[in-house]
Amino acid sequence: MAPHLIVVFIAASLGALLVSRLYTRLQLSRAKHPSLRGHSKMARRMSRLIRFFEYGDDRYFSSDLAPADIANKRKAGMERLRSRIAEKSTQTFTFSQSLESSISDVQFTSHYRVPFPYRNGLPEEFRLGSVVSQSRGTQICDLDGNWRYDVSGSYGVNVFGYDFYKDCLAAGFAKVAELGPVLGPYHPTIRDNITSLKEISGLDEISFHMSGTEAVMQAVRLARYHTGRTQVVRLCGAYHGWWDGVQPGVGNQRKVDDVYTLADLSSQTLHVLETRKDLACVLINPLQALHPNADAPGDSTLVASDRRTAFDRAAYSRWLGQIRDVCTRRKIVLIFDEVFTGFRLAYRGAQEYFSIQADMVTYGKTLGGGLPVGVLCGRAELMKRFKHDTPANISFARGTFNSHPHVMACMSEFLQRIRQPEVQMIYRQADALWNERVNKLNQQLADAQLPVRLANMHSIITVLYTEPCRYNWMLQFYLRAEGLELSWVGSGRMIMSLNYSDEDFAEVASRFLRAARQMQADAWFWTAPHLSNQWIKRQMLKDMLAYRFGARRNGNQSPVAQANGPVDVLAETL
Ligand SMILES: Cc1ncc(COP(=O)(O)O)c(C=O)c1O
Repeated sequence: MAPHLIVVFIAASLGALLVSRLYTRLQLSRAKHPSLRGHSKMARRMSRLIRFFEYGDDRYFSSDLAPADIANKRKAGMERLRSRIAEKSTQTFTFSQSLESSISDVQFTSHYRVPFPYRNGLPEEFRLGSVVSQSRGTQICDLDGNWRYDVSGSYGVNVFGYDFYKDCLAAGFAKVAELGPVLGPYHPTIRDNITSLKEISGLDEISFHMSGTEAVMQAVRLARYHTGRTQVVRLCGAYHGWWDGVQPGVGNQRKVDDVYTLADLSSQTLHVLETRKDLACVLINPLQALHPNADAPGDSTLVASDRRTAFDRAAYSRWLGQIRDVCTRRKIVLIFDEVFTGFRLAYRGAQEYFSIQADMVTYGKTLGGGLPVGVLCGRAELMKRFKHDTPANISFARGTFNSHPHVMACMSEFLQRIRQPEVQMIYRQADALWNERVNKLNQQLADAQLPVRLANMHSIITVLYTEPCRYNWMLQFYLRAEGLELSWVGSGRMIMSLNYSDEDFAEVASRFLRAARQMQADAWFWTAPHLSNQWIKRQMLKDMLAYRFGARRNGNQSPVAQANGPVDVLAETL
């Protein structure tokens, strides 16, 4: 071949390769959710640009441009709430304050209960780091003897009510009292656990870990080991523990190049799964069905009223079925992360609830019968940690406290109890029961003309706000004053235990209504024609810019009131 033809041939081949690479890259970009959440690296960069600002006295109660009489009502309402909380919870408040300077977690949670511009203006008493000393039925008791309905669900651990776990712990500890914390050798209870877990997961082998995060780490490591591929797919918004290998966005300082965050419920995502050759596994957190493509809801990000849910069990089952099919065809490991949904949505968890069989499943939280745990179940060929023909090529995993006798014994109590007919009956009725309860409360909220609604998946509830408002996050404090214990993420998630009777829930509902009514009476839900969710977000941005530039120019005084022409223009264009 003539030399110039060879050059043309090589150039054409390189060109074709480049085009094919660009096309593949484009497909990947198209499969990302258009929000910042779908673009983890960009989100990380952007998070560093967001600057703190706060509303001073002049704007705290009127950041939505409410007139003075409304602002005064809000101020008086907050003061009433403050003194009510202070009166009832003196000892608890003092105790939890004494922890704050020494426990970084307490500092973090108390700083991230409300959107940051309002954080510093909150009364000290609203930093409700709870300290509790007893639980009973559906309630917990603080140091001042106040009993509150627990709607926090202990991060999802509490599926059956605290008394159920107290029984598991007592019986489990008794079983291993003679052995104590002997690690390495197994206590015989482990055999019951593996038998039950194999039946529940529909899979062949088990590995025990100490937390949900670790179970996910092990699942991903094994998927990479057996497929020889590097890339992990997670769906936009899904939480899989705090390991940075599955948390590529905000919260992680490391740049993560081996995780693709793709859109939930998207044909582009299916296309990527169908065509790419570098995918080891797809991680699914079935809880996302409640809010596909959105982060876990929390009141610190409740800037406006556009928190939405879109739970459609049949549609999500179809979607998971499509992922199952493509994973089977392409030999991609399908991992269900059931650390949250396992043993809650159904006896066999989300696999049963959505009628899908995964290749690997992680469990945790409630499965420990009240003790910390993580479990991975998988198909035999995926769980092997060595290869016969290349003996030095192993997949390493350890953990000092894996299979701790007390954890194994409490787990076996848990697994044995949930097999009982009365618990199986709870499982069968729970979905319809919680839908009915939530529907009824929604009707009551609508009848009372309150701009608040609930959405649920089974016993997991989130609060939605129907009118544009900058102060929805205040509801968590009114709920608390009415004796409802939420988790630190506020009204974003209420995790109900399945031991709630109709009477218990009716009481929670009436307290919820009272809280929302009082919040309305205190004018937080005030609305006006200019208030839209978009206006609120723009205003927030304007205020941030005004604070930044105004504060600099004016030597840090009277921040947001200094909004001016150029800042307005910049904010409008963003
Ligand atoms: C779906 C999911 N995966 C993993 C984890 C991490 O579990 P752990 O907190 O036990 O490490 C959680 C915890 O909330 C979770 O909800």
